[in-house]
Amino acid sequence: MKFFIIGGSGLLGYKIVKLAAERHETFFTYNFRQVSVEGATAIKMDKCNRTETFNIIRKVKPDVVIDTAALHNVDYCETHPEEAWKVNVEGTKNIVDACKEINAKIIFVSTDYVFDGKKGFYNEEDSPNPLNYYAKTKLEAEKIVKEAGIPFIVARPSVIYGWNPSETKRLKSSSGKSMNFVIWTLMKLKNKEKIKIVTDQYSSPTLADNLAEALVTMALSDKQGVYHTAGKTCLNRYDFALKIAEIFGMDRNLIAPVTSDVFKQIAKRPKKCCLDVSKAERDFKIKFLTVDEGLLKMKVQQREQGSVME
Ligand SMILES: NC(=O)c1ccc[n+]([C@@H]2O[C@H](COP(=O)([O-])OP(=O)(O)OC[C@H]3O[C@@H](n4cnc5c(N)ncnc54)[C@H](OP(=O)(O)O)[C@@H]3O)[C@@H](O)[C@H]2O)c1
Repeated sequence: MKFFIIGGSGLLGYKIVKLAAERHETFFTYNFRQVSVEGATAIKMDKCNRTETFNIIRKVKPDVVIDTAALHNVDYCETHPEEAWKVNVEGTKNIVDACKEINAKIIFVSTDYVFDGKKGFYNEEDSPNPLNYYAKTKLEAEKIVKEAGIPFIVARPSVIYGWNPSETKRLKSSSGKSMNFVIWTLMKLKNKEKIKIVTDQYSSPTLADNLAEALVTMALSDKQGVYHTAGKTCLNRYDFALKIAEIFGMDRNLIAPVTSDVFKQIAKRPKKCCLDVSKAERDFKIKFLTVDEGLLKMKVQQREQGSVME
């Protein structure tokens, strides 16, 4: 099986590339952040460039394409709608159309934010109703994938976290633009900074390594459709931050609870976005981790490999 991962320089993409390259011929793209992975071939590609995307996909001729590349800073997408549409919708269409030409399977990584957060614990039969521009672009891209007439999977994770070497660079430059929540929280607590975290936004935090395993399993299967692919614990951001502090032995008193109406964010966030992952677990015989399991795994990785916190 030949894998092609779009966005291999990102948190999730990098984990998929590492895993796929252990057993399969693997190619991946980066856009601005060049990374290398042993056993995999890196290609620079901007998914917004249709000609470049077609030429590269024709040349690589993969069996399966996993598209993780997106602009997903929710507030940035709200204030830069044209750029968000270009990358998240038109860029995805370029990839889907190129997959169609070579009859490759497409796995598209979407988001729990396609839901409005009123019901919570969503399954795949529930109707999306995006509240912000980012989520609108992801839902539009889902439609393009579903209507292309090629084998597809739409995978919907929730708040993705994990160690990522390319994120280390961002940490050190400390722009923090789209740092994942666990690393951001650990950095703040390590620096003894006080942080305010919302108590009324619930999600199913998803360990990137666990999601990568699920997506590789899905790539190797003939099943297709929409799947919720998230962590097993439903909790609010404040409780998530407390859990991070507890597991990594940091000072939980630095974390203050706040509600969304006080803590103003540019884009609207759904309140209860937890996902029911039983369909994916049943169909692919996979297991999604709880928050405790995911954070403990990160702690073990930190001990084994050293970490960005050193
Ligand atoms: N992070 C979350 O909490 C979360 C939650 C739910 C769903 N998701 C979805 O999960 C996916 C992966 O998220 P992530 O956290 O792994 O993202 P990430 O770390 O920010 O990585 C994004 C990737 O997209 C690439 N990219 C951006 N614009 C591109 C373009 N025009 N052409 C080609 N590549 C481009 C980036 O390349 P360079 O860095 O090289 O420029 C990078 O490899 C996204 O589709 C996101 O919508 C994320």
